[in-house]
Amino acid sequence: MLDTATIKKDFPIFESSPALAYLDSASTSQTPLLGLTAMDEYYTKYRANIHRGVYELSEIATDKYEQARETLARFLSAESEEIVFTSGSTLASNMLVYSLEKTLPLEKGDEIVTTIMEHHSNLIPLQELASRRGLTLKHIPLTEDVDLDYEKARELITSKTKIISVTLASNVLGTINDIKRLSELAKEAGAILIVDAAQAVGHMPISVRELGCDFLFFSGHKMCGPTGIGVLYGKKERLASLKPSLFGGSMVERVDTHTAEFASTVARFEAGTQNIAGAIGLAAAIEYLSRIGLSNIEHHVRDVTEYALSQLRSIKGVTLYCAGDPRKNAGIVSFLVEGIHPHDVAEIFSRGQVAVRSGHHCAQPLMGALGVTALVRASFYLYNSKEDVDKLVLGIKKAQSIFA
Ligand code: ALA
Repeated sequence: MLDTATIKKDFPIFESSPALAYLDSASTSQTPLLGLTAMDEYYTKYRANIHRGVYELSEIATDKYEQARETLARFLSAESEEIVFTSGSTLASNMLVYSLEKTLPLEKGDEIVTTIMEHHSNLIPLQELASRRGLTLKHIPLTEDVDLDYEKARELITSKTKIISVTLASNVLGTINDIKRLSELAKEAGAILIVDAAQAVGHMPISVRELGCDFLFFSGHKMCGPTGIGVLYGKKERLASLKPSLFGGSMVERVDTHTAEFASTVARFEAGTQNIAGAIGLAAAIEYLSRIGLSNIEHHVRDVTEYALSQLRSIKGVTLYCAGDPRKNAGIVSFLVEGIHPHDVAEIFSRGQVAVRSGHHCAQPLMGALGVTALVRASFYLYNSKEDVDKLVLGIKKAQSIFA
């Protein structure tokens, strides 16, 4: 396991709140000092806009921003011309769907396949696309043990399927999906495969080449980066023909009064002034995570998750709603405490400085499939220890005694 006492020293929040058991990294993670310093340096030493100035500060800022793109590319085993900076997963998902709508020859009756475990930010843009263009949206269901039903996936994906869009790891169940398997089905069907990797990047080693996806997106703020920055990866061949869906400064070659010719590079997808400090902060977060080692982080989170699963299974009145095999769980444990609303449980946890998320987790169709309206969710990352799980257990017992 990682030495969490040492790791916590890298995160100023734990100096301000030493007793905090922060179990909400699936919502947003904490930021290491390294990332804060990198962003501070941008603001205090070389703040200027990028790709627009020929003066020294602007050139430094442009170099740092483009270096950040290269860091992202190396981190994902991609190429820098495949990395588009966005404000996060939600913008990436929305703009990609609009771009695909403008680019693909979609016909009424064509199909989109997604899963029942999607976050609203991946699902709603697909719903909207389906409704605008008369497409059929299908959802891969769950098995009893909250895995994706790959047999059903094989039946649902047909020659009519144009887009398959799935999460790599569920933000509620923790379930890690077998993207390679879905990639094979996508190839057979000639469909585009989009991966929502918001709960996975920065938590486990990820190679877009190995996954075999066409597009993948994620947010920086769930992987020790700042808020307001994220990435859309697009396979070179796909990006080359993809039409932009956001328009503005710096994404063009030439503009006249009635038409515009767009840039041939990823600049085409980065309209307007970007979150420059955010990109630099995200690259610093990657440097930090890489120093610790993505496999080490993955194994550490798996150990904490295994401990949490075993502890929670032993408490009477607690029902788990998550992947029960820690090797197939991205560090997320969702549950109900019998007779107590998840918001009440979370509020009682908060009194003991245990931070968790409660509610529908922006995944209402999944809640429906599970037969619940809300859950308590604890999510683990590199700075969490078994002691944090012990505090969670104490919190559950406290909630049970208050509501007894
Ligand atoms: N998508 C984030 C979550 O699952 C906000 O909590």
